[in-house]
Amino acid sequence: KKWYAVIGDPIAQSMSPAMHEEWFSDAGIDASYIPVHVREQDLSKAIESLKRLGCSGWNVTIPHKTAIIDLLDEIDTSARMMNAVNMVKVLEDGRLYGMNTDGHGFVRSLEEKYGTVGKGKNVLLIGAGGAAKGIAFALHEAGYGPIAITNRTLEKAELLSSDIEGASAIPLRDAEANLSNFGLIVQTTSVGMNFAKEGIPLQLMNVSAGTIVADIIYNPLRTEFLEQAESKGGLPLNGVGMFVHQGALSFEQWTGVYPNTKKMIRTITDQLG
Ligand code: ATR
Repeated sequence: KKWYAVIGDPIAQSMSPAMHEEWFSDAGIDASYIPVHVREQDLSKAIESLKRLGCSGWNVTIPHKTAIIDLLDEIDTSARMMNAVNMVKVLEDGRLYGMNTDGHGFVRSLEEKYGTVGKGKNVLLIGAGGAAKGIAFALHEAGYGPIAITNRTLEKAELLSSDIEGASAIPLRDAEANLSNFGLIVQTTSVGMNFAKEGIPLQLMNVSAGTIVADIIYNPLRTEFLEQAESKGGLPLNGVGMFVHQGALSFEQWTGVYPNTKKMIRTITDQLG
C-alpha cells in the first residue's frame, strides 16, 4: 500500500491529511496520507526515514520549505525560482524530485472561480516575499499582466519586478491612491492572519467595483482586506482555493488524477466558517 505525508512544525493543525485521504478514497486508490511532526534540526534524519520506510511522496510546510532543497536530488523551475519546495515526489529509481505548486495553485484557484476575466487587466501584487514570487511568476506564465508589485520594503519589490518581464515596482502609497487602475489585486503578505495584529497593508477605498481582489490568507476566511474590497463592490477570492489547488497539483503529480477541488473548497470553507 502506498503512503504519503506532510512534514512540518507545527503539523497537528494541517488540513492536508484529511484532504488527501478524501481524494484517495474518491479516486478509489488504496493509499494513506499522514502528518509527520519534524523539528527543524531533525529534517535530514526525517527524510532518510521517509525514504527507508517507502513513502511515495510528501508535502513540505513551515519551517522546511527552503532547507529541504539541499536534501533533494532535483527540483523543478518553480521551486528553484521560489527557493522553496512544497512537495516531493519519489521517482521510480528512488531519487527525490522537489516541486513548488503554490503559484500555479493560486492561478488555478483564480480561474476556477472567475475564469480568465483578470486577463488583459493591470495586476497589482502586494508583497514581495516567497509567496508573492511564486504567484507573480505563475501569473506571468499564464499570460496575466502587466504586473505592478508593491511592498512595505520597496527595494524587495524592485528586485522581484526586475525578474519578471513587463513588471514594475510602486510604493504602497501610490498603489493605494491608484487602486482603480487595477483589475486584479492580490494580497500575498501574512498581514490579516488570525493572531496577527497588523491590520491591512493598504486601504481599499479607491478600488473599483468589479475588480477581483484576492487574499492568500484563509484563516480567517474573510480578512479585513477582503471585507473592505467587498464593501466597494470588489469580487473576493480567499486563500482556500490556493491551498486546495496546491494540494491538488501535488496529488496529480503522485497519482495522475486531478481531484475534485470545488467540493473540497466547500468542505474546508464550512469547516473554517
Ligand atoms: P512569505 O514566504 O509568506 O511570502 P516572507 O518571504 O517572509 O513570507 O514575506 C513576507 C511579506 O509580507 C513581505 O512582502 C513583507 O514585507 P517586507 O518585505 O517589507 O518585510 C510583508 N509583510 C510582513 N509583515 C508586514 C506588515 N506588517 N506590513 C506590511 N507588509 C508586511
